[in-house]
Amino acid sequence: MKKKEFTNINVLVVDDSPESVELIKRNLQSKGYQIYTASNVQSGIKVLGSVAIDLLITDLKMPGESGIELVRHASENHKGIGILVVTGFPSIQGAVESIKIGAEEYLVKSFTDEELFAAVERVLTKTKKTKIDIPSVQNFGIIGESDGMKKIFSTIRKAKSTNATVLIYGESGTGKELVARALHYGGNASAAPFVPVNCGGIPDTLLESELFGYVKGAFTGATETRAGFFQTADGGTIFLDEISNTSLAMQAKLLRVLQEKEFYMVGSKKTLKVNVRIVAATNVDLMQLVKKGLFREDLYYRLNIITIDLPPLRERGDDILQLIYFFLGKYVKELGKASMKFTPKALQAFKDYSWPGNVRELQNLIHRLVIMSEDSTIDIPDLPESFRFSGRRSKGLDRKLEDVEREYILDALAANKNNISQTAISLGIDRKTLRDKLKKYAPTN
Ligand SMILES: Nc1ncnc2c1ncn2[C@@H]1O[C@H](COP(=O)(O)OP(=O)(O)OP(=O)(O)O)[C@@H](O)[C@H]1O
Ligand SMILES: [Mg+2]
Repeated sequence: MKKKEFTNINVLVVDDSPESVELIKRNLQSKGYQIYTASNVQSGIKVLGSVAIDLLITDLKMPGESGIELVRHASENHKGIGILVVTGFPSIQGAVESIKIGAEEYLVKSFTDEELFAAVERVLTKTKKTKIDIPSVQNFGIIGESDGMKKIFSTIRKAKSTNATVLIYGESGTGKELVARALHYGGNASAAPFVPVNCGGIPDTLLESELFGYVKGAFTGATETRAGFFQTADGGTIFLDEISNTSLAMQAKLLRVLQEKEFYMVGSKKTLKVNVRIVAATNVDLMQLVKKGLFREDLYYRLNIITIDLPPLRERGDDILQLIYFFLGKYVKELGKASMKFTPKALQAFKDYSWPGNVRELQNLIHRLVIMSEDSTIDIPDLPESFRFSGRRSKGLDRKLEDVEREYILDALAANKNNISQTAISLGIDRKTLRDKLKKYAPTN
């Protein structure tokens, strides 16, 4: 397996061509860089303003403002950033100008992967960004040590170097795509494409031409032959996300690719062969859909060779703490804030919360807390309403009433910044009763 060394280096790729962005993203991700993307100068500037970017890779010719403007903006406003210009419209003019105003290097499309890696390393070396505190990339960068996650890592390790189809099941935000990427980038074909396809919410005809491509004249508007995702992914992995949302007709077509490893482009009678590893994901139980006649049973069994069942976050115990520290560190660094910490009560509230949106919800919340916080400590009052008194919601019914009451009162007290009168009002009891209870539950308070 290739060593991934650069997990702490943030790269922003700006290009109006989604294909170019995906190509660069995929290549650099396989080396462990953190990738951000934008499709025009203005959104690039926004990303630069919100994330500590180490390296900017930008196209020059884009609709609207030219990439030159972005180079100028970055070198004037973001000291120490590395800038690499790529362009499909090579002109000595553009090259000279971008170098003059702050770019380190200039790369002409289409370049090889090696040329890209070499250019990126040169730029980062010039701006002294390479090989700084390299974090461990154990477990494919997926955080967690709970028994549930250990099982997942062990399955990924066994499955990554096979070509077997994998079905990933998990609630929303549990890390399905992360696991799919780990299977691809941890495997033997990591230099080949990883192509994610969201099967949900796309009309059949569109999904079909996206997946299988079309030939010139296949339908009105098909002015040229275009490859589909299966061709793009040849030799690599196609990730069929939200597979449960496909129609029965589409399922029949997918079954054919899985069985025969071949397909037709839209408008063509010639079969095409591909060598693609299929990873599919779903957040609903496919067997239930099979029973209701909404999912083909034969496709289900074809997909379900290796199953990875991601546990919801609320069942991962202390992984929650690890994830908090991980995201806290990430966002503090990205936003250039001083280091921050959680109070023990806030940590407990995080552990007690039920996390319906799983890791994504936790990640977004920490991002927001780091942005919004006015001091370096995150405490109960900083948390959303649903956290403050939700502690016991996710717990079983086996707790002593006294324990529940103690926790509830202490939380209420913290939420009211230790103001006894307000706490008493919020709990609907008088101050004397509250004081008596506090004597019992928190004698030092
Ligand atoms: N164990 C983990 N360690 C670190 N980051 C994680 C972990 N699990 C998920 N994430 C992060 O949480 C976010 C959501 O993960 P991902 O997109 O893989 O989830 P998903 O299951 O595909 O979600 P959805 O069902 O909404 O598509 C991503 O930013 C991902 O990097
Ligand atoms: Mg997903």
